[in-house]
Amino acid sequence: MSIAQTPEWEALLAHRRDLEGATLRDLFREDPSRGETFTAEAGDMFLDYSKNLVTGETLRLLVALAERAGLRERIDAMFRGERINVTEDRAVLHVALRAPAGEVIEVDGQNVVPWVHEVLDRMSAFAERVRSGEWRGFTGKPIRSVVNIGIGGSDLGPAMAYEALRDFSDRSRAFRFVSNVDGTDVWEATRDLDAEETLFIVASKTFTTIETLTNAQSARAWLVGALGDEAAVANHFVAVSTNAEEVAAFGIDPGNMFEFWDWVGGRYSFDSAIGLSLMIAIGPAHFREMLAGFRQMDEHFRAAPFDRNLPVLLGLIGVWYGNFFGAETHAVLPYSQYLWKLPSYLQQLDMESNGKSIDLDGSPVDHQTGPIVWGTAGTNGQHAYYQLIHQGTKLIPCDFIGFARPSHEVGRHQDLLMANLFAQTEALAFGKTREQVQAEGVPPSQVPHRTFRGNHPTNTILATALTPRALGRLVALYEHKVFTQGTIWHIDSFDQWGVELGKALANRIVPELEAGSEPELAHDSSTNSLIRRYRRMRHAGGRT
Ligand code: F6P
Repeated sequence: MSIAQTPEWEALLAHRRDLEGATLRDLFREDPSRGETFTAEAGDMFLDYSKNLVTGETLRLLVALAERAGLRERIDAMFRGERINVTEDRAVLHVALRAPAGEVIEVDGQNVVPWVHEVLDRMSAFAERVRSGEWRGFTGKPIRSVVNIGIGGSDLGPAMAYEALRDFSDRSRAFRFVSNVDGTDVWEATRDLDAEETLFIVASKTFTTIETLTNAQSARAWLVGALGDEAAVANHFVAVSTNAEEVAAFGIDPGNMFEFWDWVGGRYSFDSAIGLSLMIAIGPAHFREMLAGFRQMDEHFRAAPFDRNLPVLLGLIGVWYGNFFGAETHAVLPYSQYLWKLPSYLQQLDMESNGKSIDLDGSPVDHQTGPIVWGTAGTNGQHAYYQLIHQGTKLIPCDFIGFARPSHEVGRHQDLLMANLFAQTEALAFGKTREQVQAEGVPPSQVPHRTFRGNHPTNTILATALTPRALGRLVALYEHKVFTQGTIWHIDSFDQWGVELGKALANRIVPELEAGSEPELAHDSSTNSLIRRYRRMRHAGGRT
């Protein structure tokens, strides 16, 4: 039976009707202490979800829905290594990447935790060799620049985390991330680098991804062109993959390959060897601190009661708006410049995981699934699109993320930054009434424009400081939030078949674009004519 046909869902629909017209102003008036009670904590991470259109009854009903969906059993199944990624017939064990050495997590009767630690140790040894200057380039110079080549989970995770933890990074080295198959990306990333001092990390779970392999070939041509010897590749290229054969076929010594496994999804992988660039940047000790942060949230997710469980609460509140209020999007707004890439990272994590319309039994779903996720580091968004959140016609639930201690004490900046965060959540929730605006002496014609309806829901996530541990906790929070929602929607959050069609069609079109003479085209009339026009424009020469 679909979750949308269950009595628990029906009860939430009825409850939603009961809440019609309720406002956050009413809820806070009726229960002045909700700012203290509608909160939860995990380690030093604090969640205030009081500025949501939820009551104690809403929570009770949402938790009942989670229980009905078998969330507890699904969490246990994931941690036990069951093959819960059914369409790919794989276990889902990113949690094993941060398990302590003594833990036992089995896949097909094999304890995978020792493998995880073996790779971590190899990564640590390699990272230390690069950082100490012991690892040398082909001409004997130490490495000064590290370029990660990957895409999707093999790029967004390490790139986001590198930016997030830049303050912990080795500032004497440059770290760059190349992902786009637009040649500009690799061109710009290498144009001012010294090949003698550059290390490329080719990161690809499958090692068949066309963008990554094309970028890696171009980087290799650049390197060999500069150093004049194919043998230089051995000193300047390492790989991170599950596919040793393809790594060898590319020409990278499998001895210079760092392994991970098919039970780690790409978008759940930056705490595996995919994070090698990050580990070189921040050092193995900080990387392990970050893993400890992930682990803390894993333990919280596994053990905390649902009504005090941060990922479960975020997941359930998202379901509440998406399925019962018709919200289509979800904004994530980190008030930390170092987290500027977090929204892009979360887009893949959330949208590739829960952008599904077929359920685990192969039937079309009869309810909404994953939201459109977006956002910007605060306060920039305030001066760009918050207008629409405040006064537009759409319901946009938001997560505000802030830290009590700044990464850098610079003048008044920190308190100003956080004042903005708190002010936004207050303004979104409570708005400004017509009476308040009138009392300010605003001309009558302007009153409607300057009135804020309020009632826009927000979560506030507050932690002490943006450290490696805090980042681990934060990312695991969202991983498990996505898991919670995927469980309720009864979908496979760990496959991504939706990206395959575009890839296959691109492979068909490439030779049509590259053909010397006008190719036979058998697409639809739009695609045919776009290809013909492109070919004409491409070969006309010059940039107008
Ligand atoms: O095309 C989507 C995808 O498969 C993502 O899921 C993945 O993170 C990305 O491509 C890169 O894949 P790979 O690491 O195998 O190169």
